[in-house]
Amino acid sequence: MGTGRQGRRAVAVRERTSGAKRLFVTQRLFEDTVPAAFAGSSIEVDVRNADDSLGADELATRLAGYHGVVCQLTDRLDRSVLEANPQLEVVSNVAVGYDNIDVPAARRLGITVTNTPDVLTETTADLALALMLAVARRLPEADEFVRSGSWTSWRFAPSLMGVDLHGRTLGLFGMGRIGRAVARRAVHGFGMRLLYTSRSPLPAEEERRLGATRVELDDLLSAADVVSLHAALTPETRHVLGPAQFAAMKPSAILVNTARGPLVDEPALAEALERGQLWGAGLDVFEDEPRVHPRLLAVRERLVLAPHVGSATLDTRRRMADLAARDARAVLEGRAPAHPVPA
Ligand code: DGY
Repeated sequence: MGTGRQGRRAVAVRERTSGAKRLFVTQRLFEDTVPAAFAGSSIEVDVRNADDSLGADELATRLAGYHGVVCQLTDRLDRSVLEANPQLEVVSNVAVGYDNIDVPAARRLGITVTNTPDVLTETTADLALALMLAVARRLPEADEFVRSGSWTSWRFAPSLMGVDLHGRTLGLFGMGRIGRAVARRAVHGFGMRLLYTSRSPLPAEEERRLGATRVELDDLLSAADVVSLHAALTPETRHVLGPAQFAAMKPSAILVNTARGPLVDEPALAEALERGQLWGAGLDVFEDEPRVHPRLLAVRERLVLAPHVGSATLDTRRRMADLAARDARAVLEGRAPAHPVPA
């Protein structure tokens, strides 16, 4: 990572007098992303030298005079920010999810929104499997057991007994790109049986190859040994898992969420874990990041927490940054972006 200042120098200064289009990058990307993506362009790029997000008012003010913005999922491009900046032509999100952007408002204002699908699919699917395994085999607790000196003798029936993934039933809520990548790993790598809930069915051939059965959410929850969430956050999916849904799950089940925190009612999940309504959970996303609900933090066993690192490998984050920068450039140069957010 770097400040991006070099990028600004490389592409911006000479344009100052020419009425060139201007792009604001809300947070640092990799040092070489901007120079590579904007080589030979007349677009003036300003990279904010920070890793945190601006509040709505400040963001609205900072965007004045810019034609485009490359932003992160922690930047909220809500209606007020967009309406204050109708000169914007593009909002390019360095994420596949775009619930941080008021897309209908952008559309009304004629602003193109882009995101970064595909490049993070396999990496995020890897993390979903990692969380399943970490919970099932209790890896954080095992690590702590060794480090704390509690491991004094080998036991046939240790206190850290886990559960198997192989041969068990995986229930996927959401069957987009990431859901399917998780399905392939689970079915072909772990021999899991597959149930899924999604608005549209998989093509018959893919369903057959995965041995997947499409079911209603209630049926998925009552039959699955592992439930993994892979749906976008929308008004329909907010709190799709709450008290009633946890009560319907097997007491031996594991929940994994690498999608968006608000899909899960967190106090209800904490209560379900405390009451043994489900066996464990692995969470990479939270309702109010970076705050984690205190009742979840208080659960010490079979709950694995990660700070929204689904796509956080060096290669993948580089690809995301590059894609977002190139799509912003495309729009500002009057070309079609690779990944406009669907209408
Ligand atoms: C995304 O791209 O939406 C992910 O949550 C970022 O890691």
